[in-house]
Amino acid sequence: MSETWKRLNAGSGAHPLPPPAGAPGPVNARASIHGALQEEIQQAKATAEKLRIPFVDPLTAHIEPAAAGLIAKDTATRLQALPVRLVNNILLVAMASPEKTAAVRALEVLPSCKVQPAAAPKTALTMAVDRIFAKPVAPGPPKTLAAKQARPSERAETETTKVRTISIISNKGGVGKTHVAINLAYALAQKGSRTLLIDADLGNADISNKLAIFPEHHLLDFLQKDYDMQDLIVKTDFGFDLVCGTYGEFKLANLNYAQKTRFINHFKKVSQGYDLAVFDLGAGIARTVLDFALGADHTIIVTTPQDLISGYACAKAAFVRFKEIEERLENRLADYTPRWGFSPLIVINQVKNVEQGFKLFEALVKTTEENINPKEDRFHVTPRYLGSIPYDKDTVRATEARKKPLLDAFPHARASECLAHMTGLFLDPEHGYDPRIRFKSSFKRFAAILSRRL
Ligand SMILES: Nc1ncnc2c1ncn2[C@@H]1O[C@H](COP(=O)(O)OP(=O)(O)O)[C@@H](O)[C@H]1O
Ligand SMILES: [Mg+2]
Repeated sequence: MSETWKRLNAGSGAHPLPPPAGAPGPVNARASIHGALQEEIQQAKATAEKLRIPFVDPLTAHIEPAAAGLIAKDTATRLQALPVRLVNNILLVAMASPEKTAAVRALEVLPSCKVQPAAAPKTALTMAVDRIFAKPVAPGPPKTLAAKQARPSERAETETTKVRTISIISNKGGVGKTHVAINLAYALAQKGSRTLLIDADLGNADISNKLAIFPEHHLLDFLQKDYDMQDLIVKTDFGFDLVCGTYGEFKLANLNYAQKTRFINHFKKVSQGYDLAVFDLGAGIARTVLDFALGADHTIIVTTPQDLISGYACAKAAFVRFKEIEERLENRLADYTPRWGFSPLIVINQVKNVEQGFKLFEALVKTTEENINPKEDRFHVTPRYLGSIPYDKDTVRATEARKKPLLDAFPHARASECLAHMTGLFLDPEHGYDPRIRFKSSFKRFAAILSRRL
């Protein structure tokens, strides 16, 4: 028996259910329910033996939350299947009808890992699915009676998060992403938006360094250990809340599917308390980075006069992935109307003056108009100018020494004025919402991009 097989089988919960308590009342009814459950267990064990697959009692086996989270509740219900654990890219899935190869194949398409079906008793499986998917991801405040009693449609509505997300990317490091991220978060918070800044440039701890905030727990603890995202959030003196990154080799591009799904589930929960979330993403155009960038309501590309070509390359790579995502969503979801236009918001940092920034932006637009859009029939890319920031070495250095946002340390510096000016766009709640899209909220699109295999 291989090591993987042993680990897949470990703790499969193959115990019989406890005997019914001898309480007065409908003893016969209870005994017959117990009998029926036992019978289902015996049937499932017989199926397991016949098909030479494991047996799992989903009511007593340990179900790994990250594994269960790989499929949605309606898929679990429809296929009568519950992922139990993931070992070496093999997903053990408890199934009421493991002999149905179509159901097993349907599961394989989803998480794109190999599925090892296990036979499970039907009623126990249904109960386990209800229990697992009803459980909140993180222990939250006690639900009010009204929330508990809400009809499913009302519940879905209250769970819909209204947070708007802003992602900041660039092809090259050192162009000013982190300064832009910190100052946007600061300015938005000053204007009354409840703002969460997330250092998703894993491995660099860039925000921690710039603000001298090194909390006990950071994003890597969430991704690699079992921490709750809520426990990572720190309040800052600058009006916004922060989730820090840390130093290390782990990059956002290394995120596996289960981690992305878990990220989105937790983010959905924590984001309920915010109007805006700003993601400071790593340099480069790795697919996961682009997915975070494109899932967000607004994608900011930061570039400089020296790096304009790499800024253009970043916009082009993001557009290529944008088309791919839209086409795949269109193919997979009934009634989905794709977004046809991709409009990255361009920031030109370290310019001599604002005129230079605007001229460079125009050059970027011209290049996309000449080289990208003529080759497209359905989609198009239309960069939008968010602003430019003058090169101001002394002020930026002094700010970094003070471990504060530029806007806080030097609110009247030219660079601060330019940064403050950029926030207006994000304060208009209607902006960026495209009513043609199928998702009720743009967050759902974000979740779909990260938690489906596109
Ligand atoms: N407007 C600016 N003027 C002068 N120097 C700047 C400016 N913006 C950024 N820098 C310099 O570039 C460095 C990189 O900025 P940072 O925000 O960390 O970039 P990124 O997050 O893209 O790697 C900063 O430490 C600072 O020295
Ligand atoms: Mg950075």
